[in-house]
Amino acid sequence: MNKTLLNFLHVSKSYKSGETYLSILEDISFEIREGESVAITGKSGSGKSTLLNLAGGLDSSTSGSIFFRDEKLHTMNDMQLSSYRNAHIGFVFQSHILLEDFNALENVMIPALIRGESKNKVVKRATALLERVSMTDRLYHKSSKLSGGERQRVAICRALINNPEIIIADEPTGSLDEESSAAIETLLLNIVKEENRTLLLVTHDKHFATRCSTVYLLQHRSIGKM
Ligand SMILES: Nc1ncnc2c1ncn2[C@@H]1O[C@H](COP(=O)(O)OP(=O)(O)OP(=O)(O)O)[C@@H](O)[C@H]1O
Ligand SMILES: [Mg+2]
Repeated sequence: MNKTLLNFLHVSKSYKSGETYLSILEDISFEIREGESVAITGKSGSGKSTLLNLAGGLDSSTSGSIFFRDEKLHTMNDMQLSSYRNAHIGFVFQSHILLEDFNALENVMIPALIRGESKNKVVKRATALLERVSMTDRLYHKSSKLSGGERQRVAICRALINNPEIIIADEPTGSLDEESSAAIETLLLNIVKEENRTLLLVTHDKHFATRCSTVYLLQHRSIGKM
């Protein structure tokens, strides 16, 4: 059996709302193994994005422990979380946030340039990634001129440029039509399989969820396998 990559142990998360605390996740325990594709489903407001943000080090838990291999996310400060994200995580969000004034290639390159890699190397890798998603003839398109599905493909390449061990995707096909959604789903699942990556994703799409190796339902602040 593959090694555990991410391990949630009795994790709770609440947000302050006025004078009281609003409990979102309570005593959540589950693990994600290397090479797994994990889909999280659940109603709007059930805490799916909150869970992804904890896994990706964008937010901290209120109690409990979260391990990435032997790294303790629950004891990290903001700077340590930021380097954790940079080293291990590739994020894909629903609204494919790209830098509008930059072209597709530049958008994909930016996270690697921020890490201080040489431009020549990064150009090669970004070009190869964009080729993989059939965007070779759109490399120099400003991102504002790309279609929704094309923007999402660029966002996926950007998430992959630093070779993250885990791809965390929050409804990556939420804003796309059926055909583009299917293409993005296939792309993500193929990348996970062929490059032995791990995927943690939130989706409302039942068909997409069933193509993943494990499906969880988040409800009543708890998580359960489906
Ligand atoms: N920063 C925050 N401060 C206060 N409350 C928050 C914060 N972030 C989320 N919440 C609350 O936590 C609950 C869960 O939010 P979350 O975004 O995780 O839900 P979700 O399952 O992703 O929903 P959706 O399917 O609509 O995206 C919501 O009720 C939301 O109002
Ligand atoms: Mg959400």
